[in-house]
Amino acid sequence: MTPNPLEELTWAQLRLRTSMKWRAHPADVLPLWVAEMDVNLPPTVADALRRAIDIGDTGYPSGTAFAEAVSEFASRRWQWHDLEVARTALVPDVMLGVVETLRLVTDRGDTVVVNPPVYAPFYAFVSHDGRRVLEAPLSAEGRIDLDALEDAFAGARSGGGKVAYLLCNPHNPTGTVHTADELRGVAERARRFGVRVVCDEIHAPVILPGSQFTPYLTVPGAEDAFALISASKAWNLSGLKAALAIAGPEAAADLGRMPEEVSHGPSHLGIIAHTEAFSTGDEWLDGLLDGLHANRALLGDLVAERLPGVKYQRPQGTYLAWLDCRQLGFDEEAAGGLAVVADLSGPALWFLEHARVALSSGHVFGTGGAGHVRLNFATSQAILTEAVSRMERALAG
Ligand SMILES: Cc1ncc(COP(=O)(O)O)c(C=O)c1O
Repeated sequence: MTPNPLEELTWAQLRLRTSMKWRAHPADVLPLWVAEMDVNLPPTVADALRRAIDIGDTGYPSGTAFAEAVSEFASRRWQWHDLEVARTALVPDVMLGVVETLRLVTDRGDTVVVNPPVYAPFYAFVSHDGRRVLEAPLSAEGRIDLDALEDAFAGARSGGGKVAYLLCNPHNPTGTVHTADELRGVAERARRFGVRVVCDEIHAPVILPGSQFTPYLTVPGAEDAFALISASKAWNLSGLKAALAIAGPEAAADLGRMPEEVSHGPSHLGIIAHTEAFSTGDEWLDGLLDGLHANRALLGDLVAERLPGVKYQRPQGTYLAWLDCRQLGFDEEAAGGLAVVADLSGPALWFLEHARVALSSGHVFGTGGAGHVRLNFATSQAILTEAVSRMERALAG
């Protein structure tokens, strides 16, 4: 049995951290918002970083070890056997990789389709780069609505410009893991309408029992698409920036046009950490997944027992839970797609003020997000239980 890294740290130890999760709110607030995990580094990753520091290995990155490690991980865990290193490019992080990839297949003024409610920076990064965001909302069950997607593709194409689709798999904030069938439906439509797909697979190693991850580039019809991946979510390396852009066989020439200087963005230490995580982090990841599996169940029980007005949509992947708080009656306006990630309103603001629990506000995730909160359950069972107890007490007034 591999140890559960979520149970190794105390609240007092976590409070020493200076990262966004721990410093955005006062010290009495339990932070269950931004996607950082309450874990120590996997020991093999910590050792690799220490080794680099000890020998002063802090220059510029070199070589293809990161891409090789991702390719071997993909082959081992997902039976994706043709992730070719030659069809990859280093990028500073996943979001900048998304921006640079979209630049290869769209121009300013073109349209990028997204599936709200979706990770808020999808709006901000895309629109800051002069692209128009068009929403094709998920279904009520949080799944890709292929009819809505087709309508969005058709509508965007009728404008005459180029169109891309920024897909999120697994999906943040609902934790939906898209099935092979759904992805085949996406690829067929993307081909039919001449839409280029960019798939954010940052949460892909975090698939919980009962679901199976299908890498988008393994789906028939997706040969002209791109994927973005990194170790930052699964091994908690967000502060050690690095990511990889991967092109399907028919997108390789496009990826070849990515300016070389983009690959200067990730840091050498970031690449060392991400490479090590993909190479030697399986056992640690398995311990994490067991812990997340237990927390997913615990959260379901806690919400059912203590927060009767709240609906919990059980995630299939990620460590993010999407809680429907609309019955609680806290007003919240839709943000109109350009909200700041840390913006709070409606139930998230209420729980911060009354329960001293920090959650992500649903309205920043676009259409369908208002009235919801996103809760990050990558923490200890003690903290998770305390957070829901605080919410229960606050609601009881
Ligand atoms: C779906 C998704 N994409 C991208 C990111 C950010 O990745 P990066 O820090 O590598 O830009 C996150 C962070 O939580 C995320 O959930």
